[in-house]
Amino acid sequence: MNSSFAFTTGCQMAHVTCLAAARHSILRDVGWDVEADGLQGAPSIRVITSEHCHGSIERAVRFLGLGKNSIVALATGADARVRPDTLEASLAQGEPTLVVLDAADLNVGAIDPFDELIPIAKAHGAWVHVDGAFGLWARASKHAPRLAGVELADSWATDAHKWLNTPKDNGIAIIRDSSAHRAAMSVSAAYLSSPGEVRDQIDWTPDWTRRARGFAVYAAIRELGRDGIADLVERCCRFAEELANGFASIPGVELVAAPTLNQALVRFIHPDPCASVNEQDGWNDKIIDALNREGTAFFSGSRWSGLRVMRISVVNWQTTSDDVVKTLEAAERVIETERGNAIVLRPV
Ligand SMILES: Cc1ncc(COP(=O)(O)O)c(C=O)c1O
Repeated sequence: MNSSFAFTTGCQMAHVTCLAAARHSILRDVGWDVEADGLQGAPSIRVITSEHCHGSIERAVRFLGLGKNSIVALATGADARVRPDTLEASLAQGEPTLVVLDAADLNVGAIDPFDELIPIAKAHGAWVHVDGAFGLWARASKHAPRLAGVELADSWATDAHKWLNTPKDNGIAIIRDSSAHRAAMSVSAAYLSSPGEVRDQIDWTPDWTRRARGFAVYAAIRELGRDGIADLVERCCRFAEELANGFASIPGVELVAAPTLNQALVRFIHPDPCASVNEQDGWNDKIIDALNREGTAFFSGSRWSGLRVMRISVVNWQTTSDDVVKTLEAAERVIETERGNAIVLRPV
């Protein structure tokens, strides 16, 4: 494979870089030069994605002038993955299309079935981009089969500052068609000199000036090696599973989604069985806040199937089994205290 790459500020700008190359390629194929003529009067592009796609996709689409209304968010199956028949039906509507798939989503770690979806998208001439902000690293681990077919895509965005644990400001864009990548990003200015065939980062990234991001990525990969990355990914996935099971065994906690990789969802059940949906949501926020104030671990809230839930997400190389045990002990204490404090007042 002769793909080109760029180091960006994060996955958000890696999406912008990849989707700029996609926009170039899609419009070039219908006879439109977007770098020269912009988008005024250009053929429209549809962006087909999953209802669970990350918000950075919508923003990349907006930055590139395609507008958020160009996005078609497909309803997924119960496993939160795009279904082949749904994708096929949407593609059948024609129009130049960009398909964005997930590896993986940040709530339940859902990984789209690339080996089924990408051939369908290709048969319709679509460009396929993969958001692999954290999940792409699982390809180096025993979880690799879950990403089967991901290599069939046209572009991939990931972060070194998530699962590789480099300092922040380290996204990576990878693009199969290096000529589309270069055409979308390159610049020329009289004072820039690029001797011979030496790669100049300005031709591949959205930045004019940038720090040497590749240095931290190189150092981390050199230190860990493929086995070290596999171990890091597998450890985090194991801890996420232990945390999810541990939370689920605490009275008043329900497992909403078991981890596919390193993400899981749980929900806290209000002590009052007659609590309204709003009260239930408020109760979840209260427990999340109490857990975070206790300080052993940090959790964020999310919304899943219309309900307020808590995300379990493990991605730090420093997390140990001992942290998992301490977190569960703290959670048990906090939840018990909050349930004890809850006064359920109902008219008799
Ligand atoms: C799935 C996914 N995509 C994209 C992003 C955006 O990444 P960044 O913050 O590096 O721009 C995130 C960030 O959490 C993410 O989880």
